[in-house]
Amino acid sequence: MPTIVIASPKGGAGKSTTAVLLGTELARAGADVAMLDGDPNGSLTLWAERGPVPARITLHNAITEQNIVRTIRALDADGSVVIVDLEGVASRLVSRAISQADLVLTPMRATTLDATIGARALQLVAEEEETLGRSIRHAVVFTMTRAIRSKQHSGIEASLRAQGIDVITPALMERAAFSALFEYGGDLATLPAQGNMKAARENASDFASAIYARLTEKREAA
Ligand SMILES: Nc1ncnc2c1ncn2[C@@H]1O[C@H](COP(=O)(O)OP(=O)(O)OP(=O)(O)O)[C@@H](O)[C@H]1O
Ligand SMILES: [Mg+2]
Repeated sequence: MPTIVIASPKGGAGKSTTAVLLGTELARAGADVAMLDGDPNGSLTLWAERGPVPARITLHNAITEQNIVRTIRALDADGSVVIVDLEGVASRLVSRAISQADLVLTPMRATTLDATIGARALQLVAEEEETLGRSIRHAVVFTMTRAIRSKQHSGIEASLRAQGIDVITPALMERAAFSALFEYGGDLATLPAQGNMKAARENASDFASAIYARLTEKREAA
């Protein structure tokens, strides 16, 4: 089953939120999902402690540069979709996780600063591709976007696309429900109402479908 690694050296880019939304949506759609907390700050672990861990999700922590590769391989062999959340740094752990990925997902806010630092994730992917002698699928997802799209957002997105970088549609909107997942745990189905729940659920579900479509496309399309 596929391994999705969420990586960006930019702190606060929305990595852990993206990991929880993706994991809970794929589990809700029927997949067995292994979520690996590879961040010493333990965002995913905190999420799992806050509320009931949804059906079909298992949380794995104490992930280190020594055990990441064998942990991913074992879970992958088990038939789980593996989702790895990482610290906002470039490190050996991050590079090893990337080396095992079927898809590396880089969340970024649509600001010039975040895009500039986020683009360094692409460099890490390129380095692993060179080491392994194979290509690693990679995509960017804009996070915390507003209903009215800024000029900066349009400019950054156009520039990424012009470089041939895959940009996930839809972006993940700024939603109270998404940050509240870390308050209440669980998923968007169990979450007490926060803001526009219908819009939040639709956004998360459409996002997860866009990722799922990339994972099921034929390799040559990658
Ligand atoms: N789409 C969103 N809507 C609302 N709030 C969001 C959204 N995405 C992230 N946030 C909030 O922004 C903050 C940073 O998000 P998150 O922790 O997911 O980023 P991160 O990249 O994992 O950070 P770190 O590098 O520290 O691990 C958190 O408070 C989170 O609740
Ligand atoms: Mg995080």
